Amino acid sequence: MGKVHICDHPLIQHKLTYIRDENTTTKDFRALVDEVATLMVYEITRDLPLEHVQVKTPVTTADCQVISGRMLGLIPILRAGLGMVDGVLKLMPAAKVGHVGLYRDPDTLQPVEYYVKLPTDVLERDLLVIDPMLATGGSANAAIEVLKRRGCTRIKLMCLIAAPEGVASVQKEHPDVDIYVAAVDDHLNDHGYIVPGLGDAGDRLYGTD
Ligand code: PRP
Ligand code: URA
Repeated sequence: MGKVHICDHPLIQHKLTYIRDENTTTKDFRALVDEVATLMVYEITRDLPLEHVQVKTPVTTADCQVISGRMLGLIPILRAGLGMVDGVLKLMPAAKVGHVGLYRDPDTLQPVEYYVKLPTDVLERDLLVIDPMLATGGSANAAIEVLKRRGCTRIKLMCLIAAPEGVASVQKEHPDVDIYVAAVDDHLNDHGYIVPGLGDAGDRLYGTD
């Protein structure tokens, strides 16, 4: 079963509080989501393999380490996942970005796919699926399925807030995928919204409703 990593660093938790706050403006919401995405990358990249290299310092030769040639791919789920991409790219500037467009049908809560564009070398990359919200899990499961159908195998999922129902669903459908979240909330309400959550992530990022 995929592990759930809670990114509980105080800076992340502090910023998440203001992301949740309904009085936070669109401009601040966007900036905070970007910042938390950057901070979460520390936890997500903790298992990247290192290799030894030597560098000459002005004083002597030093035995050092560098990340050993892993190629990364970011897969934001449109729309709301886009709000976290730049934050992740700050620490992974060489990553390529693929896009999976899904929206949740408001009546059935089922994901509807409308766009997929992936890097041509996606099979060679470690992939990070990005979406602020993991509610029923339908969208994340569908995006991961899009990748697996094409043969991708090394996949992680990054979200700001998850519902227990969404975590359980991804763990059941994709037991090989580790999940990184800033918080696991209480439950889903009758409309499939995370409680207490932050409301509609896409609307709050882009000022729509
Ligand atoms: C939101 C969110 C996730 C999805 C989560 O997107 O960004 O993609 O809902 O819900 P689920 O786990 O129940 O599938 P939405 O469908 O509102 O689309 P948007 O990003 O275009 O606003
Ligand atoms: N999508 C959102 O944007 N928010 C939720 O709480 C659930 C799904």
